[in-house]
Amino acid sequence: MGKLIGNKKLNIAVFISGRGSNLNNLIKFSKKKKSFINLIFVVSSSKAARGLVYAKKNNIKIIIFNYKKKLTSERNVLKILNSNKIKLICLAGFMKILSIKFIRNFKGKIINIHPSLLPRYKGLNTHERVIKNNEKFTGCTVHFVNKNLDSGKIIIQKKIKIKKGDTASILSKKVLTLEHQLYPKAIKKLFASL
Ligand code: GRF
Repeated sequence: MGKLIGNKKLNIAVFISGRGSNLNNLIKFSKKKKSFINLIFVVSSSKAARGLVYAKKNNIKIIIFNYKKKLTSERNVLKILNSNKIKLICLAGFMKILSIKFIRNFKGKIINIHPSLLPRYKGLNTHERVIKNNEKFTGCTVHFVNKNLDSGKIIIQKKIKIKKGDTASILSKKVLTLEHQLYPKAIKKLFASL
């Protein structure tokens, strides 16, 4: 992990679309005594996203990404993020595809968490597919975002053994707990290079 030179913290924005448990976890992480992140913005693809409750409770600024006007909205979000010196975007259950232009503008600074051992099981319904295929292991991955879905370079992964009797719903709970451990670790790992 990189040193905290002059106690300088890393400004981050978290992008969500739904429940926001990873967001809540990152908020908690940012509030720890020795935390090295400042969670400045929550960007949501919907004003109805359940996870926005955590941003409101913690007085974190919210930006609603208007997908009906995708390019204009992306341009505005970029402007706000850049002028506030955001150095890392963490996608956490963000269900929209960012444009290539947006990704290029934040090259190497957008990461995502995915509930499978990538490159296996990209996309949705990972736990159902893992169970159906009688896999022995599953887990989660934090990776860089590139133009292809769930395909960017892997930063860190965590693996668990699937037990007899595990269902997709049991796996989703187990993996979510792992995700909450893994996302802060991934940010720590990147900290030195950002
Ligand atoms: C997580 O399982 C994450 O891996 C995936 O979407 C889910 C978001 O959950 N990309 P939450 O909104 O953080 O609770």
